[in-house]
Amino acid sequence: MAKGFRRLPGFRDFAPEDFAARAHVFEVWRRVSRCYGFAEYDGPPLEPLDLYVEKSGREIVGQLYSFRDKGERDVSLRPEMTPSLARILAERSRSLPKPIRWFSVPQLFRYERQQRGRLREHFQWNVDIVGEEAVAADAEILAVALDGLRELGLTDTDVRARVSDRRLLTALLRALGVGEAQTLDAFTVIDKLEFEDPERSRERLANEVGMSPEGAAELLSLLAGGLGDVSARFPGRADVTEAEARLREYVAMLEAMGLGAYVELDLRIVRGLAYYTGIVFEIFDRRRGLRAICGGGRYDRLFELVGGSPLPAVGFGMGDVVLTELLREHALLPDATRSVDYYVVPVSAEERPRALELAHALRVRGRSVTYSLRQQSVGKQFKMAAAQGARRVIVLGPAELERGMAVLRDMTSGEECDVDLEELVEDDR
Ligand code: HAM
Repeated sequence: MAKGFRRLPGFRDFAPEDFAARAHVFEVWRRVSRCYGFAEYDGPPLEPLDLYVEKSGREIVGQLYSFRDKGERDVSLRPEMTPSLARILAERSRSLPKPIRWFSVPQLFRYERQQRGRLREHFQWNVDIVGEEAVAADAEILAVALDGLRELGLTDTDVRARVSDRRLLTALLRALGVGEAQTLDAFTVIDKLEFEDPERSRERLANEVGMSPEGAAELLSLLAGGLGDVSARFPGRADVTEAEARLREYVAMLEAMGLGAYVELDLRIVRGLAYYTGIVFEIFDRRRGLRAICGGGRYDRLFELVGGSPLPAVGFGMGDVVLTELLREHALLPDATRSVDYYVVPVSAEERPRALELAHALRVRGRSVTYSLRQQSVGKQFKMAAAQGARRVIVLGPAELERGMAVLRDMTSGEECDVDLEELVEDDR
């Protein structure tokens, strides 16, 4: 017996009803991107391995689908889009007017541990503004992400954006005596604070970052609150005051856009990726049952890392997996029942050539049309028409055809009438 094949773990099939959900989400993502003036781009799914090593951060590099190709090149399926964007723009950004507003909907591959909301492939809406350092670009980026979710039917009672700033965190770490060399290690611990026992986090801050027990305790208490009085706690530290003011300005802009109810300051958000340099955010389901729906932030140094000239940049990635689950839970996915405009029923084999001619004439005019691929009884053909969700059935019988006529049945009301075939084809309904 032939061996059966199974789908690889972490990969999906998209049967038509799943594909309809995916198409709906993509359609909204694309529409919202265009409303904000973004242009769509893409790149290859396979990239040089080096593009990700060092640039993406330890977590992603450990999950790469990488191999050596037949030309002895070390390559990887893309685990994220941002390094490709930086590579593409490193070559051509000079000739483009700034800021550059680009978006993409790539399929990405990460060898993840199996868990709810995380697969080994996913589609990710990427929206980035390149060449603008003003905080207004940061606010614009979060607004696109939130409007994408709103257009899909989610509200501020369903989702929230938790925002923070790596510059503020860095300033706080400096004020607490953590040097530059330990900053990324500190971010790695902060990134996991929510999922780890506080005692364990304190230990890690001591062992991996070299903080004193008092320093670690103070950091944890600062991160537990919102923005609170951080600058009051470090008077005289211009870097803290400046970063705090920027974050407040950012939130004020989002409030002005009517999005304030979605936004929460939360300094525990640092993002796992290595390249972020400023304001960062993650969007979650309010009930927190699911992993992050979206993550993004400012990354002002990635372009230099891939060999381009320095360019400030800010953007986000929103995955389709958690989002589609959430939309399904809220019954916000469109009804995927299939339907066609017409089903053509030749009464006997004699009328089949006319049926083919009619179906083609209607299809050329953009209507959707099917018919039975074998000659069957009229009753069976009607059953198939109903099963395929046909809105109308056209019955071609010898007597009617003689006069250039046919019988048209409306499948919803059951009403029937005679129609002139030429008029039916020309009619634009
Ligand atoms: P990320 O946080 O790694 O960021 O991914 C962004 C989103 O993609 C996540 O919030 C999640 O919805 C989805 N996602 C990530 N991995 C998986 C997975 N294994 N299965 C399902 N969904 C997943 C980035 O990738 C950045 N490059 C985003 C960005 C663009 N930053 C600036 N511009």
